[in-house]
Amino acid sequence: MEKIFDAFSEKAKKYLAGINKRKVFPAESDLKNMKNLDVPLQNSPIDPLKVLEELDRFGSPATVASTGNRYFGFVIGGALPAPLAANLLAGVWDQNAGMEVSSPISSYIENICRKWLVDILKLPPETEIGFVSGATMANFTCLAAARHAVLKNMGWNVEENGLFNAPSVKIFVGEEVHVSILKALSMLGLGRNQVVRVPVDNQGRMIAEAIPQYSEPTIICTQAGNVNTGSFDPIDTICDTAHSFGAWVHVDGAFGLWANASSRYASLTKGIDKADSWGADAHKWLNVPYDSGIACVRNKDHLSAAMSTEAAYLISGTNREPFFYVPEISRRARGLEIWAALRSLGKDGLAKLVESNGACASLFAERLAAAGFKILNDVVLNQVLVSFGEPETTRRIIQKIQEDGTCWCGGTEWQGHTAMRISVSCWRTTPADIEESARAVIKFAQDEQKRTGSK
Ligand SMILES: Cc1ncc(COP(=O)(O)O)c(C=O)c1O
Repeated sequence: MEKIFDAFSEKAKKYLAGINKRKVFPAESDLKNMKNLDVPLQNSPIDPLKVLEELDRFGSPATVASTGNRYFGFVIGGALPAPLAANLLAGVWDQNAGMEVSSPISSYIENICRKWLVDILKLPPETEIGFVSGATMANFTCLAAARHAVLKNMGWNVEENGLFNAPSVKIFVGEEVHVSILKALSMLGLGRNQVVRVPVDNQGRMIAEAIPQYSEPTIICTQAGNVNTGSFDPIDTICDTAHSFGAWVHVDGAFGLWANASSRYASLTKGIDKADSWGADAHKWLNVPYDSGIACVRNKDHLSAAMSTEAAYLISGTNREPFFYVPEISRRARGLEIWAALRSLGKDGLAKLVESNGACASLFAERLAAAGFKILNDVVLNQVLVSFGEPETTRRIIQKIQEDGTCWCGGTEWQGHTAMRISVSCWRTTPADIEESARAVIKFAQDEQKRTGSK
């Protein structure tokens, strides 16, 4: 063990020291070298040091430097030092965090995280939290609690009786709903195509007045942070109306929920605490290593009714039972990394992280706009959408940027426009990284314009 830890430590230090100096996306030759891992599986055991050596030699160069300073694809955070170390310690501990009896420390730490998260995200104090693998599972878990609650109100026990012959549930989502909500609804037997899509404005925000009133069981899925524009639905208004007719309001706040840690974004997050459930990722803006999400539900009984299970051999402790609040029983100790991230950052540190990424996104947008390129969204948070003209031109420029490797940005379609997406979500990113990346993007875009004679 000692030898492998020493070897690991050397390799880990080397990898992270080089993260900012390499191409963000691996070179073709590095990807080709992955084939060296695809050996016929031998019969006899081999030295663990050799295993580590092979993984590092052929695996590390083939990674995407998404934990580095200049990765702006999808919405991907890095890994802060304290939660990264906590992640490694969690591996050493190898706890089954499912039950208090299998890991008192994991259960205890999750409960601390619950208190801290509720405080820092300004959620109602009674909110319970399930520690899941990401926002998709957080949305699934929260919507399972919602399904339980609205059907219970109609006298129907969905966990016992399923959905056969159940009262129908009306579900509203915005036209720009994230696919993870639709996936969660499909997994819950509520159907992707059964939802009513509410019209949105040019930033992707639901138009609250367009939600009709329904007397039957209703769930309204709102969004705090559109994956393209970063915009927030008018959650305050939606909650007021929805609650007047007994509907459940869920917030998909995969990254946007973290904006509630900073008073700077108060106009976006207004009324978010009025909702009934909130899903978010910790591996996005809290910058803990993969995989980590939080399913927050105001009424703990609805969450546990949807998630808990019983068997003679499963021992329920006297305190908080982690498996009452998540889909899994056995799982890793995710709370450790969240505890370490919050403990190391403190309230001010988290607010600064969010604000600094937001400022970097605005700086990127300013530089691109000053060079004559069209910013398609109001840069209200950490997301920027830019068009370089014709769809084909934009797509080619994105490809050039990805091949160049100074930074990595992806593409999207936004309300009829082909756009490049920039998402600033990593604790490492500095204004200097933005300047360097903006210079590279502008150069490729201008070269392409010259080549095609387009403007
Ligand atoms: C708004 C929103 N919801 C849900 C998700 C899904 O998150 P995950 O991939 O962690 O499950 C994302 C991912 O970007 C997102 O932006």
